[in-house]
Amino acid sequence: MDEHNRPIHTYQVCNVMEANQNNWLRTNWISRDAAQKIFVEMKFTLRDCNSIPWVLGTCKETFNLYYMESDESHGVKFKPSQYSKIDTIAADESFTQMDLGDRILKLNTEVREVGPINRKGFYLAFQDIGACIALVSVRVYYKKCPFTVRNLAMFPDTVPRVDSSSLVEVRGSCMKYAEERDTPKLYCGADGDWLVPLGRCVCSIGYEEVDGSCHACRPSFYKPFAGNVKCSKCPPHSFTYIDATSVCQCEKGYFRAESDPPTMACTKPPSAPRNANFNINETALYLEWSPPSDMGGRKDLTYSVICKKCGSDPSQCEVCDGGLRFLPRNTGLTNSFVTVLDFLAHVNYTFEIEAMNGVSELSFSPKQFAALTVATDQEAPSFVGMLRKDWASQSSIALSWKEPDYPNEVILDYEIKYYEKVVSRIAPGFWRWLRKEEHGELSYSSTKSKAPSVIITGLKPATKYIFHIRIRTAAGYRGYSPKFEFETGDETSDLAAEQGQILVIATAAVGGFTLLVILTLFFLITGRCQWYIKAKMNSEEKRQSHLQNGHLQFPGIKTYIDPDTYEDPSLAVHEFAKEIDPSRIRIERVIGAGEFGEVCSGRLRTPAKREIAVAIKTLKGGYMERQRKDFLREASIMGQFDHPNIIRLEGVVTKSRPVMIVVEYMENGSLDCFLRKHDGHFTVIQLVGMLRGIASGMKYLSDMGYVHRDLAARNILVNSNLVCKVSDFGLSRVLEDDPEAAYTTTGGKIPIRWTAPEAIAYRKFSSASDAWSYGIVMWEVMSYGERPYWEMCNQDVILSIEEGYRLPAPMGCPVSLHQLMLHCWHKERNHRPRFLDIVSFLDKLIRTPGSLHTLVEDILGIPESPGDVPEYPVFVSVTDWLDSIKMGQYTTNFLAMGFTSLDLVSRMSIDDIRGIGIALIGHQRRIASSIQTLRLQMMHIQEKGFHV
Ligand code: ADE
Repeated sequence: MDEHNRPIHTYQVCNVMEANQNNWLRTNWISRDAAQKIFVEMKFTLRDCNSIPWVLGTCKETFNLYYMESDESHGVKFKPSQYSKIDTIAADESFTQMDLGDRILKLNTEVREVGPINRKGFYLAFQDIGACIALVSVRVYYKKCPFTVRNLAMFPDTVPRVDSSSLVEVRGSCMKYAEERDTPKLYCGADGDWLVPLGRCVCSIGYEEVDGSCHACRPSFYKPFAGNVKCSKCPPHSFTYIDATSVCQCEKGYFRAESDPPTMACTKPPSAPRNANFNINETALYLEWSPPSDMGGRKDLTYSVICKKCGSDPSQCEVCDGGLRFLPRNTGLTNSFVTVLDFLAHVNYTFEIEAMNGVSELSFSPKQFAALTVATDQEAPSFVGMLRKDWASQSSIALSWKEPDYPNEVILDYEIKYYEKVVSRIAPGFWRWLRKEEHGELSYSSTKSKAPSVIITGLKPATKYIFHIRIRTAAGYRGYSPKFEFETGDETSDLAAEQGQILVIATAAVGGFTLLVILTLFFLITGRCQWYIKAKMNSEEKRQSHLQNGHLQFPGIKTYIDPDTYEDPSLAVHEFAKEIDPSRIRIERVIGAGEFGEVCSGRLRTPAKREIAVAIKTLKGGYMERQRKDFLREASIMGQFDHPNIIRLEGVVTKSRPVMIVVEYMENGSLDCFLRKHDGHFTVIQLVGMLRGIASGMKYLSDMGYVHRDLAARNILVNSNLVCKVSDFGLSRVLEDDPEAAYTTTGGKIPIRWTAPEAIAYRKFSSASDAWSYGIVMWEVMSYGERPYWEMCNQDVILSIEEGYRLPAPMGCPVSLHQLMLHCWHKERNHRPRFLDIVSFLDKLIRTPGSLHTLVEDILGIPESPGDVPEYPVFVSVTDWLDSIKMGQYTTNFLAMGFTSLDLVSRMSIDDIRGIGIALIGHQRRIASSIQTLRLQMMHIQEKGFHV
């Protein structure tokens, strides 16, 4: 009877009284099928010899399991000598007379494995040598990895290898309407589990993934690329009525240029330029106009100017012959002005100004242009005469000139344009980034005066400046005067200039004093000064810190050892990382793809038999030795760290394939995506808590003498308790894997937006350059994952940093945090805070949360840093400003609603921004932050006496 009292059939033997037993039971022939290794599970009961009287010496408590391979399924005579022994089987539990009486079934289960099996089948045999046994069941089986579908690839039934430490690599085949994106592979493990998914299939163009298979895009939807993205709605002004569309068709009147991606809206040619106007003097005709009101949905706007000579009948115009010269040229103009030279006197010229874009050529509609007729016989007054320097101090120059005499025109005012005469104001490393022709235009200033004299302030001592002047009359600006060069004075010249400057100095002094008072109060509240933090550093820390190897080394903290200093890098990995037996790892899911292979999540059985969640980085098959070294380099680095804010290495698998690095699992993934997903969800204290964790991890790294070089929110991982940990170490030397890293002119790859200027310019990486990157991470965190410097190109980022521009505070950012960011972005790397300073500063903020209540938008008017007011770029118009922050598409919204000057813009509130029709939150934010900067900039300009 079994444990449920049901009768069972068993094979029994119990010749315990007689010596020399040799009883055999043999199975029928069993087909091997696909098996390489078979498992035999036996259930049996066995009588305890001690419970049978008088059997000492004859009673046994084991039996033997044998097998014999054979291709014949019938007619094989049983010969024990042909059988090989698998094992002696003993019972874990044996039963006694009492158990029988109590009807207790003491069933044993034993499993043995045999293999490899090479013949078509086999027999099993059981040998009894004098035990009292009942064989209840024998189950014979083999293991296989069953058919499965992963990442749109199908994998067939697969039988594992006999050798349990090596896996079978299986190539998948893509499902219908899917195609390979990296060869899809799985590994079949000895226990019949699929491991380490690599590669994948993706739905082909026109198809998207729905519930694990590829389905055609519906009408009105399209998918232009093969990939794991959904079908998208046709872009504006395009359509499709059929299934499985890869590119939508343009509506009538709209076009797609050859280079336009299928994802782009269909567009049309622009309308005509507006407000065409001209200015003329004896030798030059200056034409200017405003951009068209309708750009046709594109940004690749250019202009061409055609000159015609027309008689009284406008249909009788003929194109001007070759005599005229256009500067810079007459076609493909990107600016809305052109200068015309070599025209004839007393001629009526008609200029047709046409706006064009990338689809103008495709349209058959008549061209739209602005026409302007210019008669070259008019008086063309321009500024003539000398510009005189009346006096100069260290920071000012007073100029005057003779008022020109134009009896028929009223001079409205004079515009004085000036800039520093420099050969190269740019650090050598930046110079290569800068196109030559932009150089002279980079930062001129201008001011206006109604009188024929001006005092220009805010200049540098003993420096040469270039000045030129033009007149404005009711007809517009006249041509510029020749250029004049004047120099500011040195210390000795100030006395002479004193009288002329009293007013300016008094104004600056009052402004400066107010600024000083505000800043002093501010420091006392926030305690943000680095010297203050340093003063607070306890004496023990000071005593202990000493300089070693170029970094502050604290006794008791290990120094980082560069794995490259090992002749054999595999020695380094085994010194710093534990080897893990792959049978302790269970791979569950692919969570990402790295340079070297998939990143998976899974479980690791610890030696204490506990299961912990882990992330597993795998090295793709077919790698070269160099790739293996680079891959394991990360483990050699990570294995040296032990800190709650540094990702923990659990170990490596190097002795079997695939090679793996196993690290702790961080449930919330990378910080940048996490913040974007939870935009606006956290309190400032929570965000500061995250920043504090990162700073603490970085302090640990810098104490160990390790420079990260790629600190960015994408390289920070977040766990389920919002703890942030620094990761991505392997690439700190080469940065090959970071999609943000761009090649510099020196050949290195650098994530420009996150990197300090000295590291970009001459590869000076240090903990101070990590501090710069930390400032950028602060900005990413406080803006919930916004891209630093938005869509500005890398080149513009470098230039603007060199010019003194710094990222403005994100909306809702406490002043104290923005101040800390600015500190991290100090041009001079020795003036940046150390991570020790950053951690104590953030701790202080967390202890006194009141210090986080003052937001940048609440204290407009306080300049950014004491005695070091950033040099913001000077914008001249609303259009320039919007273009500089890549928001040029809203120019008409601003102008149409009356925000036509920067002064008006600088007074806008967030409601105003929404009110003029800017609906996207990200764009509202960007514009609002830039308005903050504008206000500071305008204050700074007022203080320095600039006029814009
Ligand atoms: N992606 C890369 N590494 C990871 C980790 N340790 N945890 C979660 N996601 C990751």
